[in-house]
Order: sequence, then structure tokens, then C-alpha cells
Amino acid sequence: MRTILKRQSVTQADVSVLVMGVTEEDAARPAELGLPDKLRELVGEVLGLGDFKGEKGVHSLLYTRGAAPFKRLMLVGLGRSGELTLERIRSVMGETSRKVRDLDAESVGVSLDHLAQGIDAGDAAEAAVEGFTLGSFKDPFYKTKDLDKFKEIGELRIIAPRATDEQERRVEHGRVIAEAVNLCRKLSWGPGNRVTPTRLAEEALRLRDIGVKVTVMDREEAERVGLKSFLTVARGTEEPPKFIVIEYGGGGEGVDTVALIGKAITFDTGGISLKGREGMPLMKTDMTGGAVVISAMEAVARLGLGLHVVGVVPATDNMPSGRAYHPGDVVDSYAGISIEVTSTDAEGRMILNDALAYAAKNYGPAAMFDFATLTGAMEVALGEHAIGYFANDEGIAERIERASETSSERVWRMPLWEVYDGQLESDVADWKHTGGRPGGAITAARFLSKFVGETPWAHFDIAGLMEKKGDEGYNPKGSRGSGVRLILDVLRNWGG
Ligand code: BES
Ligand code: MN
Ligand code: ZN
Repeated sequence: MRTILKRQSVTQADVSVLVMGVTEEDAARPAELGLPDKLRELVGEVLGLGDFKGEKGVHSLLYTRGAAPFKRLMLVGLGRSGELTLERIRSVMGETSRKVRDLDAESVGVSLDHLAQGIDAGDAAEAAVEGFTLGSFKDPFYKTKDLDKFKEIGELRIIAPRATDEQERRVEHGRVIAEAVNLCRKLSWGPGNRVTPTRLAEEALRLRDIGVKVTVMDREEAERVGLKSFLTVARGTEEPPKFIVIEYGGGGEGVDTVALIGKAITFDTGGISLKGREGMPLMKTDMTGGAVVISAMEAVARLGLGLHVVGVVPATDNMPSGRAYHPGDVVDSYAGISIEVTSTDAEGRMILNDALAYAAKNYGPAAMFDFATLTGAMEVALGEHAIGYFANDEGIAERIERASETSSERVWRMPLWEVYDGQLESDVADWKHTGGRPGGAITAARFLSKFVGETPWAHFDIAGLMEKKGDEGYNPKGSRGSGVRLILDVLRNWGG
């Protein structure tokens, strides 16, 4: 989908469908919609009949019959004007995008003035583009038939007669950010036999074209470097593991380094501690943390942020085999901490501890953030509506809370109290890597905390948000790409 801002009036919009947001107040006073005579008559009739009252999420499709250069006018209810927020714009535009796509529209225009009521027009433009681009995401994946059902809308045009350059930039930002989320969704939902560590590495290597440095370590290289805990998980699989390092921006004066780490288990069988058959197919999404990082790195580069950002993505399958690690094994790690393996199904923290220690040691970041579909316990605690996070630093937590507000990605801070370490005490190694059922998400975070040293750090457990069961707002059925917009808002507002 081509996304542009055009400085033209609604009456000049030569698009297949024009989308016009209407609040309940607008609907009561159609004369103030700022439409030329012929269109006003048309809209006035629909509003006069009471068929459309501007309620949130209600749509009405009108045919203009020569009254405008566009044949279809879609009125979109925004609800009460006093309650209009960026999240409502995103969500309403998400729903609208699927209706427009179902019309087989070649192009769609969205009137910015009608959306940005009492809201900064730049913010509104970005939110509208995000909502539309996210809501219309539909990937054919590996289908070979009926591909016409996956036809994209050719052009999304934000129509704003008096747009500023800043508003034009915000349209571009919205596009970059939403495309990053869509990439994350696509990778995340891809099956284990297709989205392999090699495939993830290729996706990362693609970023070289936009000036990003990418290094991919294979099994031998990772061995030389000493990523022992990561390789312990990778031992059981024939699928070549990859330890991916992505680096954006140089170290200029006063430029902070921020590290993003993402769990990329391309398929989690549980290993020797084999999972039941029930939930296993969804374990193709166990690389979502890695997908968040790769996608966010692409957006960081395309937005040209003034930061030094390092992405580290340990990628491997977790398989049972004659070479697989066993419950009870004691293994070494990059940080030099010995680990007693209690369950081979707690493989996420085995690959993350090496990635965290690697990032901390080699880049000395001002902050580290990791994303992982880490524990079923987190899914039980918060369900599918919020990301649970842990932070060892108040400043980091504040940044996350602020980004949660601007992105409307819900987060909930979980405790990281030392007292939980009791559950991780081992008779044979420095630490056991699991602490039993009670507080399972917390003990997982406590385990990871041993590997970050003094670095300000936050861990996002996104296990509850792997799947959206049906279309809703800007989230179509499938993978949501949760975390990408959140972390991009953290980074965009990093500032000085
Ligand atoms: N990838 C899973 C976590 C998961 C489970 C995500 C269900 C989404 C839905 C992770 O590797 C795992 O298996 N965790 C175990 C840890 C346990 C063995 C301590 C879990 O949560 O059961
Ligand atoms: Mn597991
Ligand atoms: Zn896992």
C-alpha cells in the first residue's frame, strides 16, 4: 500500500472511496461538516433520516452519483467528540480499513480535518495511518489458491488541504511503524519449518541495505565466543541455530546505546521435557520476541533515530533428540554462571541469559530491554490484554509507562523482589533455572536478572499476547505484533 499525504480539498479527491470521520456532534449539525452543496445534500439526507448518528464504529456507505470525484463516501462514526483519542482513531481506522478492502478499492482517501478534532493533526495523521495499515494486514502466507482475496489497497491518501511538513512526516512515521508491526506479525505467525533461524537471519541481513550492521554467528562461531547456555538448547536440533546481532547508528558524543534482546525459539517442543500435543502448534510463535526486535530495528533505522541501538536475537529450535540437553544437567553460560537445568522446556531463559550477558559485556548499554514469550504463568496472570514487565530501574519503568500511554499498548509492572531467589537455589550449581509453579513469571525474571549486571533493564513477558482469535479494531486475527509500537515510543522519546 502506497501511503501519501496530499494537499488537496476533499472535493478534489479522485479516490475509489473517501473516508470521512463524523462525531455524534457533527452528525447533529451536518451544515458544519464543511462540505460543498451537492455533497452536503447527500450527507444531510442520510443524517436527517437518522440512519447514521456518528456512534463509534458505525459505518454508512453512500454513492455520490457525480457529486464528487470519488464514487463512494464512507461515513465513519467517531463517537462523542469529547471522547476522541488517538487510540480511538487507530481502532476506528482499523475497522474501516477492512471494510474498504472488502470493496476491492484501488485507492482510499481519509480526510484529516474530520479526524483531528481537538487533537493535534500530526498525531491524528500518524494514528490514522497506523490504524489503517495495521487493520488491513492480511498475509497469504503460503497459500497458492484464491490469492485475489489478498489483494492490497493500492493507495492510502491522507487528505489535508493545509498540511504542514511536520504532518507529512508523521504520515511517513505512521507508515514505517505500522509496517514494522506487520513484519513482526508475519514472522511471528509463520510456521516453524519456514521461519527458521536461517530465515530470521536473512530478514535481519536485509537491513544492511538501509545502513544497518548485521552479524550472524553460526554454531561454530557461537562456540568460539562462548555462548554456552544458548548452544545447550541448540544441541538438540539439526536446524542450524543463529545468533544474530544487529547494530544501528554509531557512538557519537552523548549518544546513548540501547540494547534490544528478543527470544527466538523458532519452534518450542519443550525438548526432552516434551510438551503435550494440545498447545504445541502455537509454539511456532515462540520466536515473537526476536521478531519484535528485528522489526523494531528496521523502524529505528527508517525513522533515523539519533540513538545507538543494538539488537541481539538468539535463534534456535528446541527439540528432543539423542543430542538434546537433559533435565538435571548443569551447564555453563557466557556470563560464567553455572546453571542447573530443571526442565528443558524452560529454554527461553537459557538462550536469553547469554544474549543479555553478551549485550551488557560488549556494548555497555545505557539500558537493555528484552522481549520473550517466556512463561505460561504470565499468560495465566494477565491474560491477553496486557504485557507484563519487570524492571530493575525506576527511570526505565517510567519511560515504559509513558510509552504505554502514547502507544496504548497496555503494560503491567510485575515485582522483581529478591525474596523469590529462594526458589532458584541449587545444590549443584550457582542457580537452578526454574522455581516451580508459584510465581513462575517472576522467578523467570529473577533468573534473567542475574545476567544483566548493573545495567538498567526491563524484561517484557509477552506470552499472553501471541494470538488474536478474531478481527478487532486494528488487530486482525492472527499475530498482533505486540511490543513493537511500545518500544518504538520508548526509543523515539529517549531524548536528552
Ligand atoms: N514458550 C513457552 C512459554 C509459553 C507457554 C508461551 C504457553 C505461551 C503459551 C516457554 O518456553 C515454556 O515452555 N515455559 C514453561 C516454563 C516452565 C517449564 C518453568 C512454562 O511456562 O510452562
Ligand atoms: Mn518452553
Ligand atoms: Zn519457549
